[in-house]
Amino acid sequence: MKDKFQLLKDRTALAMLGGGAARIESQHKKGKLTARERLLFLLDEGSFQEIGMFVSHRSTDFGMEKEKYPGDGVVTGYGTINGRAVYVFSQDFTVFGGSLSETYAEKICKIMDLALQNGVPIIGLNDSGGARIQEGVVSLGGYADIFYRNTLASGVIPQISAIMGPSAGGAVYSPAITDFTLMVKNTSYMFVTGPNVVKTVTHEAVTAEELGGADTHASKSGVTHFACENELEAINKIKDLLSYMPQNCEDEPARKEYQAKDESRIKLNSIIPENPSQPYDIREVIQELADEKSFLEIHKDFAENIVVGFARIAGRSIGIVANQPASLAGVLDIKASIKGARFVRFCDCFNIPLLVLEDVPGFLPGTDQEWNGIITHGAKLLFAFSEATVPRITVITRKAYGGAYCVMNSKHIGADMNYAWPTAEIAVMGAKGAAEIIFKKEITTAEDKQAKWLEKEKEYSDKFANPYRAAERGFVDEVIEPAQTRQKLIHAFKMLENKVVNIPKKKHGNIPL
Ligand code: COA
Repeated sequence: MKDKFQLLKDRTALAMLGGGAARIESQHKKGKLTARERLLFLLDEGSFQEIGMFVSHRSTDFGMEKEKYPGDGVVTGYGTINGRAVYVFSQDFTVFGGSLSETYAEKICKIMDLALQNGVPIIGLNDSGGARIQEGVVSLGGYADIFYRNTLASGVIPQISAIMGPSAGGAVYSPAITDFTLMVKNTSYMFVTGPNVVKTVTHEAVTAEELGGADTHASKSGVTHFACENELEAINKIKDLLSYMPQNCEDEPARKEYQAKDESRIKLNSIIPENPSQPYDIREVIQELADEKSFLEIHKDFAENIVVGFARIAGRSIGIVANQPASLAGVLDIKASIKGARFVRFCDCFNIPLLVLEDVPGFLPGTDQEWNGIITHGAKLLFAFSEATVPRITVITRKAYGGAYCVMNSKHIGADMNYAWPTAEIAVMGAKGAAEIIFKKEITTAEDKQAKWLEKEKEYSDKFANPYRAAERGFVDEVIEPAQTRQKLIHAFKMLENKVVNIPKKKHGNIPL
């Protein structure tokens, strides 16, 4: 018996070493943690239960039968984060560069199946050289098995991917399907083809960091939602993110304890500038409306003209989508529409109510936008709001112009409660442009054209640069003093908490992609 227990101990110790001490040292020298160290930081102490520690590959080509490591380059299992169950996989770069073999893929698929069957979120820590080159197509098949499960799990359980090393070629598509992706600056990169292939095919010279580093994907492509300074920051961000989410689509997000107090926020009365063309930072409004320090911004550096993120209001998780007047005057463009739509859909999948803060002068004009499909992409945001069945509240802080008025969670597309501040301007377009079009004849034939234009601009502005026309029609439910907004939202979200919407029977909608 003693020998048998010793054998188990020896084998376990070997598995704990991954690809061996030298490769662990090399991993540390690159400023990276090992797969197991990452799990130690991610999960509650002592909670990790490993599955498949002794799995090894079946490959015999290229002398592979002589080179085997227990676990085969990925650590899989389950544990808890702040007491909540999660399934995890953590790729081990010290074993064949974390490359994905047939058995490695089977290990990941096994825990994906368990996560899906048990309605538990899944978190993947990625650090891999891609498909195991010695295995050929069975490795590619393994990737596809994972992608298929990512797709089945989408909208059923939250899926989070952290990229903590390379993620190239086929490896990028699992993170791409998951709900949130995090990257670490300087030590992680994602691309379909690396710098060498790029050089050969397009003659472009580009570094890995420029091509697919964390900053690139956080600001240019939007592929990652967070560019973290280091691995610990990424791990803490995962924990934070998870705290706003439910376990699965049939569950409600966990609610934090909240003691009711004076909810008026007088600062809100002075955030909107006197001059309607002047910018202000919508984050100041969010900070006042949300519970203290509860706002977690997502996709911060991508499409800065729209701000999205999670927050809590009286302890309840909500998703916020807000035009940002401090960037491009808060206009909607292709990137902002895509960013907003994806976030709205996530919230709707997982029963997280939506708060929209609206200050939008319209869609961005120009050939660049038109030729790249602002019509289709703008429709994504419209579609996402329209199909969302979670409680939806809009607060119009200032401009609500043109088609963008319809898109930004208007009453007409199913919002439950629409508030406007007295500073709201709700019209087809700004007064200046409107006067130029509808009073063209009067302006061009006037003796003093400029004076006429100003007179007509004022006439249009007096009529529409306010919230009362919309309130008369019931398109706005209430015009409120900004300082009272938080109070109103607390009541309204509570009133809407049992909302049920019956949608027409269908297989699934066809969102314009
Ligand atoms: N399949 C099998 N083994 C792989 C591998 C792969 N896809 N990628 C890396 N490895 C192995 C290396 O042979 C090396 O093994 P060793 O420790 O026994 O020497 C180890 O992983 C580390 O790789 P190395 O190249 O030394 O690390 P690096 O940090 O310098 O470079 C990569 C990392 C990922 C850039 C580089 O390994 C690479 O380009 N890999 C191939 C990527 C690819 O084309 N994958 C297939 C497309 S999906």
